[in-house]
Amino acid sequence: MFNKLIGKFSHDLGIDLGTKNTLVYVTDKGIVINEPSVVAINKRTNEILEVGEAAKKMVGKTPGHIEAIKPLVDGIISDFEVTEKMLKYFITKVHKENFALVPRPRVVIGISLDLTEVEKKAVEDAAKSAGARKVYLIDEAMATAIGANLPVTEATATMIVDIGGGTTEIAVISLGGVVVWKSIKAAGNEFDNNIIEYIREEFNILIGEQLAESIKIAIGSAIPMDAPSEIEVRGRDLVTGLPKALMVSDKQIREAISRTVSKMIENIKIILETTPPELVSDIYERGLYLAGGGALLRGLDKAISTATKIPVKIVDDPLTCVARGTGLLLGNKELLEKVVLPTSTD
Ligand SMILES: Nc1ncnc2c1ncn2[C@@H]1O[C@H](COP(=O)(O)OP(=O)(O)OP(=O)(O)O)[C@@H](O)[C@H]1O
Ligand SMILES: [Mg+2]
Repeated sequence: MFNKLIGKFSHDLGIDLGTKNTLVYVTDKGIVINEPSVVAINKRTNEILEVGEAAKKMVGKTPGHIEAIKPLVDGIISDFEVTEKMLKYFITKVHKENFALVPRPRVVIGISLDLTEVEKKAVEDAAKSAGARKVYLIDEAMATAIGANLPVTEATATMIVDIGGGTTEIAVISLGGVVVWKSIKAAGNEFDNNIIEYIREEFNILIGEQLAESIKIAIGSAIPMDAPSEIEVRGRDLVTGLPKALMVSDKQIREAISRTVSKMIENIKIILETTPPELVSDIYERGLYLAGGGALLRGLDKAISTATKIPVKIVDDPLTCVARGTGLLLGNKELLEKVVLPTSTD
């Protein structure tokens, strides 16, 4: 009864708690928060200084007593306390901006299928202590498919490849459930690390993570593009210890990230090999859906379709698909009950 009462005053939330970005969807409003999963903390007082975009700007630039923490690593909560603080900050922010009286929302959260029971419970507990009244955990790939309006409850295969920052989730969905799946650590962050390593090995120059990511976004591609491109990069010369600039080409970046692209393709093939034949024929007909920020890497769709002989489609707005899926589920109780993962309180 009490829960019902406070529920009335709060907006229900759909959350994509990603390694790289956290998105919050509010019923009737859409996505209201889309910020990096970073929290800056004053270590002396344990006080939160900044969360999200403002905290990301501090990464690698903090003085000794301030720490910019990324509480999720490879899709898994590595710092429970900070994740909880981050969620609490976002949930409170949503409620403040919406003049709600008591912030006790129902929350649908997209998570990796790869999480252990303990890790799932950590996500649930973090959301609860951040103020959630009821938590529903949904597999990210399922949330992606729902966000892309794909027919997840029908007797037909929907194949999703969600390339995030920490993990790539490969899943085949049919009749409201995940039939076969795999979660691998080769995703956006690994592309960035490939670029850091390449520039160190080829040029003896050290660059940071954020620069590597921006090079990838500016000129990265999985297959040769029509027009070649290059970009100026500044890093530290490991021989002299001094700053140095150099030009890097799209061809070099392609070479740097090719190992990770191959790893993704190999794992997609493994999933296809273990998918029941009827579902494979659906996939050949309907195609595979690419989502997550990694889907935006130029030519990755073509590289995958050439290697697998399957049509590849990129979902609309791949960075927000999971959040939109969790949002759609808030408004569709029947579907939510079909696809929700079991939680500790069930
Ligand atoms: N245009 C682009 N080209 C290539 N990569 C991109 C582009 N835009 C974003 N990305 C990459 O997408 C990744 C972030 O994607 P996303 O927000 O889906 O991840 P996440 O959900 O936070 O992570 P995870 O699902 O692994 O927990 C980052 O590695 C980012 O560099
Ligand atoms: Mg994600």
